[in-house]
Parts: sequence; C-alpha cells; structure tokens
Amino acid sequence: MKGHDIEVWSAGGDSSVSGKSSQKHFDEFALNKFGRIMKSAGVETLNCMKLAHYLPEYQRLFTKSDGSKVDFLEIGVQHGGSYRLWKNFFGEDLLRWTGIDINQKCLALNNQLAPEKGLVYCGSQADPVFLEDVASQRGEFDIVIDDGSHQSEHIIASFKTLAKHVRDGGLYIIEDVHACYWKGFRGDSDSSNALSYFLGLAHSLNVQATRHERCSKNLRPDELVTPPALIRKIELLPSMIVCHMGAPLPMIEWKAGMKSVIA
Ligand SMILES: C[S@@+](CC[C@H](N)C(=O)[O-])C[C@H]1O[C@@H](n2cnc3c(N)ncnc32)[C@H](O)[C@@H]1O
Repeated sequence: MKGHDIEVWSAGGDSSVSGKSSQKHFDEFALNKFGRIMKSAGVETLNCMKLAHYLPEYQRLFTKSDGSKVDFLEIGVQHGGSYRLWKNFFGEDLLRWTGIDINQKCLALNNQLAPEKGLVYCGSQADPVFLEDVASQRGEFDIVIDDGSHQSEHIIASFKTLAKHVRDGGLYIIEDVHACYWKGFRGDSDSSNALSYFLGLAHSLNVQATRHERCSKNLRPDELVTPPALIRKIELLPSMIVCHMGAPLPMIEWKAGMKSVIA
C-alpha cells in the first residue's frame, strides 16, 4: 500500500481539469524536490495535505542560494507531516521550525523534535497576545505560512500581528484561500474577508503613486489601506497569497531615446 493519494477538484464541465489532463498537471506539479518528498511518504509517515500546485511555487519561493538558516513559522500543525516536508527540503540543520495549533494533541510532535530544530506551541492564531509571545521566543521569521483555521477573520488577525515579525525579504504565505468563499469562513463583510483584505493591501504597493502630485487627493479610505508592515510584492495564485515583505521599491522614471513618431 502506498502512503500518498490524490483527489481532483472538478471545475464542472471544464475538460482541461479532468481525467488525463489533471494527471498530466499533477505529474508536472510533482516534478520537484517537494513532489519527491511527498511521494516518498509511506503508511507510517505523518500525514500532510497540500494542494499539488503549491509544490512548484514553494520550490521557486524557497530555493535560496546562500545556504543560510531558515526561521519558519507554520500556523496549523494537524497531523505533523508538513514538518517532514520542510525538514527534507531545507535540511534538518538549516531549518528552525515553529508550529502553532489550537489542538493540544499537536504538542505530541514535540516528543520527536529538538526545540532548536522544531517546536509546537498550543494556542489560537486569533489571539495576538499568544502570537506575540511565540514571536518573542522564536522570531524573527524568514517564512510564515498560515495553514490554520482558514477563517477570514483569523487570517487577517494573524497577519496584523505577525507581519512585522517577518524579516526584510521574507515571505508571509496564506494557503487555502478558497475558504474565503465558504459560508462560515468568509467573514461578515468585505473588510473581514481575507481575500478582499489582501486585494485592498495591494494599493500599498503603489504608495509612491498615491503620494505623487498627479494622484487624486480624493482617494477613498479603502484605497489606502495601511499594511501592518512594509510589503514589497503580493502574488495572487489559485488558493494562495504570497506577500514578499520589505520596503517597496522606488519607482524610477527612465526615459531612453530623444525622437518621436508623433512630433
Ligand atoms: C489544514 S490543518 C494544517 C495542516 C498542516 N499545515 C499540513 O500541511 O499538514 C489546520 C490546522 O489548524 C488548526 N487550527 C484551527 N483553528 C485554529 C486556530 N484558531 N489557531 C491555530 N490553529 C488552528 C487545526 O487544529 C488544524 O490542525
């Protein structure tokens, strides 16, 4: 019996995501180190569930050339299998992993870990005091992944507390953003919906433009959402948001050539 399995989410009548085609996509998604680690799981391996298309993204985002240590915070531990994924990718000596889960049973993973390599804390991602306490003991972080409750309000609350504890150049990633469409998870309003919140934050990437003299002075408040920490880049992917933390880059207007077809 193999230790891994897949399930395809149908997009309803779209032949591009059914049958052979989805197997072909899956094979492509698995063609990287993360795919090999997932495939090597046996029946005795701790369980981990990721959408397959995350894997090449993680390969792209997490591949560093400098061989430095990685401080990694993951919200949502569940069965404990994702630690195996990160450990095998970065190497045990380079990874300092911290897991957060509301389920006390997840603390059992600490029996298998040396605290300087990996440590699980029990508490809620919606509790800023708890998150600040974890960050004071284990931060600053290079990578934060929110794979916790998937409740919009929790996602926003965690980001507001933890974003400032990510190093300049680090990543804050939210997995399974599809839950932002689920009843009971999506929040009561646009401002409490996590996807809408991050779309709003996209305006902060244009902060130079909004301060430019040509910019209207009448921007609505929701067009100027202040991020809890500086964000350089936001990537929107299916079910995933990736915030590249750090000071926005300057916009430098550069003209080349002196002639014109309209002069
Ligand atoms: C999707 S699972 C995590 C899976 C794991 N990251 C993996 O890749 O295998 C979500 C976990 O979030 C935890 N969780 C739910 N609500 C939470 C909250 N408010 N704060 C922290 N963890 C929470 C659940 O107990 C569950 O173990």
